[in-house]
Amino acid sequence: MSFDPASFRAQFPIFAAPTPGPALHYLDSGASAQTPRHVIEAFAHHDATARANVKRGVHRLAEAATEAYETARLAAARYLNAPSPREIVFTGGTTGAINLVASSFGALMAKGDEVLLSVLEHHSNIVPWQLLQARRGIVLKVIPATVDGRLDLDRLDGLVGPRTRLVAVTHCSNVTGALTDLGRVVAAAAAVGAKVLVDGAQRAPHGPVDVQALGVDFYAFSGHKAFGPNGIGVLWGRAPLLDAMPPFMGGGEMISHVSFAGSSWAPIPNKFEAGTPPIAPAVGLGTALDWLAGLDWSAILAHELRLTGRILDGVARLPGSRILGPAGLQQRLGVVSFALDGLHPHDVCQLVDATHGVALRGGHHCAQPLMESCGLVGTVRASLAPYNDDGDIDALLDGLAAAVRQLRA
Ligand code: ALA
Repeated sequence: MSFDPASFRAQFPIFAAPTPGPALHYLDSGASAQTPRHVIEAFAHHDATARANVKRGVHRLAEAATEAYETARLAAARYLNAPSPREIVFTGGTTGAINLVASSFGALMAKGDEVLLSVLEHHSNIVPWQLLQARRGIVLKVIPATVDGRLDLDRLDGLVGPRTRLVAVTHCSNVTGALTDLGRVVAAAAAVGAKVLVDGAQRAPHGPVDVQALGVDFYAFSGHKAFGPNGIGVLWGRAPLLDAMPPFMGGGEMISHVSFAGSSWAPIPNKFEAGTPPIAPAVGLGTALDWLAGLDWSAILAHELRLTGRILDGVARLPGSRILGPAGLQQRLGVVSFALDGLHPHDVCQLVDATHGVALRGGHHCAQPLMESCGLVGTVRASLAPYNDDGDIDALLDGLAAAVRQLRA
């Protein structure tokens, strides 16, 4: 197998859609990836041919919908190499998945128990733990970052201890693009009997994940960043942990029996899927994951890293630029954040979009603690997907040079 960026890009209708201004150069896949035609069609086909509620109907359409939904769960389990589809919980996204763990695994924690986060975390892996802190009096500890935007894992041994119950860290920073050495995190957690939750939102779109090889306990990611629909995400958790956790939300389908004297819960994963789930989005996500699993990721990652190198070199040449994150290509993905001295990231992003059609993200990237630790209000961020090509990078670098000239004139 090999990778042909042009034919990959041709699978995405967005790049052929009419646009009023300059042609689209989409470098914001870290916020939301674009969706290929066949995933859009799978999503629509489901609603056109098998739309019904799942798990509760006995007519043929309901059975077809249930089968499609459970087939999507199997696809998610394969993508993560989960031992069983019972361990796959569909959620609204990464945020929903982490809130579920914070609420349900957190319900098993006592005052003074500790959760270890990192300064690189997205707000979705900070705020749920602060809510738990307010409810249960847990203690939050924070792994600092190195100067090149990685978790400072040399600090791990001093931060974990007998009260650590969970280490919750990103697999890949949405700001710096640095990949986390999860082996060291798992070893440090295991030494004190703590569990490990991984925010895989940025990593999962870049090829299948093997949760068994990683040795982690919970893994979360979002459908919309993984070329699938909005409103769907995945939480994988080890069955004994999910079995022991109380439900997150109550409602239909998560119960075994309900009476006013008390209710009992369905087995996992249904225990965590109260109410009607996002069915067509799950079908779309399953289609996207099966497709992603069949791609040649070593060729794709080489392509993305070559483009990343071009961005790093080009940004480094801009006067007054500061890159947050690894300057090299080792142990990173194609997410590049940078500050431009004296320029607000929103001004830069708006200008580069207006003049060169380049879609970037500017701001704090839902990572305000990291920004504060760097003394910044925000950065400009370019984030890559396999459909990006040299034309996108040319437009980015030309657009940035023009924006810097104009804004500093
Ligand atoms: N978490 C998304 C991002 O980093 C929204 O842009």
